[in-house]
Amino acid sequence: MKLGINIDHVATLREARGEEYPSPMEIALLSEKSGADGITMHLREDRRHIKEKDVIKVKENIKTKLNLEMSLAPDIVSFAYDVEPRDVCIVPENREELTTEGGLDVLNQKEKIKKAIEKLKNKNICISLFIEPDLKQIEMSKFLGVDAIEIHTGRYSNIYFDREKKDLELENIKKAVFFARDIGLLVNAGHGLNYKNVTEIASIKEINELNIGHSIISYAIYVGIEKAVIEMKKLIE
Ligand code: PXP
Repeated sequence: MKLGINIDHVATLREARGEEYPSPMEIALLSEKSGADGITMHLREDRRHIKEKDVIKVKENIKTKLNLEMSLAPDIVSFAYDVEPRDVCIVPENREELTTEGGLDVLNQKEKIKKAIEKLKNKNICISLFIEPDLKQIEMSKFLGVDAIEIHTGRYSNIYFDREKKDLELENIKKAVFFARDIGLLVNAGHGLNYKNVTEIASIKEINELNIGHSIISYAIYVGIEKAVIEMKKLIE
C-alpha cells in the first residue's frame, strides 16, 4: 500500500508569517527520501497555503509522483492542464471550511465533473474523485470515466469513543472499497488518518494508496519529517 504525504500544512506554517520557510519542496524531498511514494498538495481556491509556484517547484523536483487535489474551479482545472501532475484528485471546496469536510457529490455535478475529466484526460492525467464510501457515488464515478476514487475516511476518523459506530463505518468503507475494485477502479483513501487509527484502514489490502497530511506534519514538529514518514510507513506495512 502506497503512502502519499500531503504537505499543505508546511505551507500553512510558512504563510502564518509570510516567510519563505519552511519550504514545502524541501519537505517533499525529505519525505521521498524517507519512503513516501508520492506527494499530495491541495491548491485551494483561496490559496490559503499552497500556491501555484509550490506545485510547479515540487513537480519539477520530486522523483516520485505528484497528486494535485483541487476543486472544479475553471482556473485551477486549467492550471492542472498546464502543469500535468501524474494524478489529480477532485475534491469539494467550501470557502469557510477548515479542511475538506466531505466527499464530492458526483451524482449532482455530473456535467461539471465530466467536462473537467475530458479536459485533463487529454494530458493522460490519472483522475480520481474524492467521495464518501457510497455505492451510488462510486457507480457514477466509474460511469464518468475516472481511473480512481479516493474514499473519504473523515467520518470514520472522527468517531473516537463509540466502537460500535466505528465498526459500522469501517464495514461501510470495506464494502465501498471492494465494490469499487470489482468495477475496475483504483481505490485510494484518506482524511483524518493518524498514527492511532491508520492500521485498521491499512488492513484493507485492496486500497492502493493512503493520503495523509495533518498528523504526519504535526508529528514532524516533534521528531522531524524523516522519522514521521518512516513511522507511518511502518504502521501501514
Ligand atoms: N485526501 C484528501 C482528498 C484531502 O482533501 C486531504 C486534506 O487536504 C487529505 C487526503 C489529507 O487529510 P489529512 O490532512 O487529514 O491527513
